[in-house]
Amino acid sequence: MTSGCLVIVGGAFGDEGKGKIISYLALKNNPAVAVRGGVGPNAGHTVIYHGKTLKLRMLPCAVVNEKTELLLGAGVLVDSDVLLKEVTETGSHLRTKVDRNCAIIEKKHVEMDREGHLKSIIGTTGTGTGPANADRILRVGKLAKDEESLRPFMDNVSRRINSALDEKEMVIVEGTQGAMLSLYHGDYPYVTSKDVSASGICSDVGIGPKRVSEVIVVFKSYTTRVGSGPLEGELTPEETIKKGWQEFGSVTGRLRRAAPFNFKLAKDSVTLNSATQIGLTKLDTLFPESSRVREFTKLSTKAKKFVSEIEAELATPVVYIGTGPDTEDIIERNVASRKW
Ligand code: IMP
Ligand code: MG
Repeated sequence: MTSGCLVIVGGAFGDEGKGKIISYLALKNNPAVAVRGGVGPNAGHTVIYHGKTLKLRMLPCAVVNEKTELLLGAGVLVDSDVLLKEVTETGSHLRTKVDRNCAIIEKKHVEMDREGHLKSIIGTTGTGTGPANADRILRVGKLAKDEESLRPFMDNVSRRINSALDEKEMVIVEGTQGAMLSLYHGDYPYVTSKDVSASGICSDVGIGPKRVSEVIVVFKSYTTRVGSGPLEGELTPEETIKKGWQEFGSVTGRLRRAAPFNFKLAKDSVTLNSATQIGLTKLDTLFPESSRVREFTKLSTKAKKFVSEIEAELATPVVYIGTGPDTEDIIERNVASRKW
C-alpha cells in the first residue's frame, strides 16, 4: 500500500469539488484512514460514484472505500443527528470514529444561526456552526464525550492518525470550505467561524506540519461563492445561467454567485496553503468537449492551454483534473516531484 499523508483543502470559497477529488484518491490509494477537519455540517460534499449521489456533511468522502476508517478530528463541530443519519445511510457504524473532544452543535445554536446579523449580513448556512464555536471558545460548549448517542464512536483521533503514519499507512486529511472563507485569512466578517487553510485543518485533526506529504489545493475552473462578501468579476444570475455555471448550494439550496477563474486569488491561496499539487474540477463546464475525457492528451487545445496557464501562473502542477460528475471522470497526471 502507498503511504503518506495527503491533505486536501479548498482553494477558494468552498464548493470547489473537493468531494470528487477526495473520493477518487480514496479509491485509488486505499488509505487506512481518512479524517475530516474543518468547521462542521455547514459543508456539503457531493460524491457521485457508480451512479449513486452522496451528499456528505459530516463523514469523510473516503466513505466510498469500504476498507477506510472514517474519523472526525477534534476541531470539528458535530451535529449528532446529521452524523448518525449519514452513518446509517452508508452503513459505516463500525468504521466511524469521533474524537472525544469534538464540540456538539445544539438546537439553540441552529436557532441563533438563523437570525440577526448572521442571517442578514453574513448569510451563513444556518447550521449552527458559528454559535457553537462561540460557545466552545467561551468554554461552555458540550463535547462529544458527553453526548450519549455518540458513545459508540469515541476515539482519540490525533493518536490514531499519528500511529497510522508511524506504521507507514496512508492517511487522507480532508478539509472543508475554502481557504478564502478562513476566519483569519478571508474577507472578515464574510467568513466562516474558523481557520480552514491547510494548517488549520491539520490542527483540527491533530497532526504537526512535518507529517504532511502533499497539500492538494482544489480549485474549480470558475469561481463560486454563496452568502455575502466580495466576489471579483461577479456575473449576473442571467450571465451565470447563460454560461452554464449555475449551481445550487448543497446545504442551503441557494443559487451560487459565480465569476471567472481568479488567478490572483488562486496564487494567494497556493501560498497560504503551501500547495504542492492542484486539483482542478469542472473543466468540462468550461470546455464541454472535455466531458468525461480521462487522458490529458485527449483534451482540446483550448482546455490544455487553460491548464498550462494555471500551472505557469501558480508555479504548481495541476495533477488532478475533473471532467465530469462521477468520481472516475478524472485525469490524473504524472508528476516527477510526487512525495508518496
Ligand atoms: P457559516 O460557515 O455557516 O457560518 O457561513 C459563513 C459563510 O461561509 C457564508 O457565506 C456561507 O455561505 C459560507 N460557507 C460556509 N460553509 C460553506 C461551504 O461548505 N461551501 C460554501 N460556502 C460555505
Ligand atoms: Mg459544498
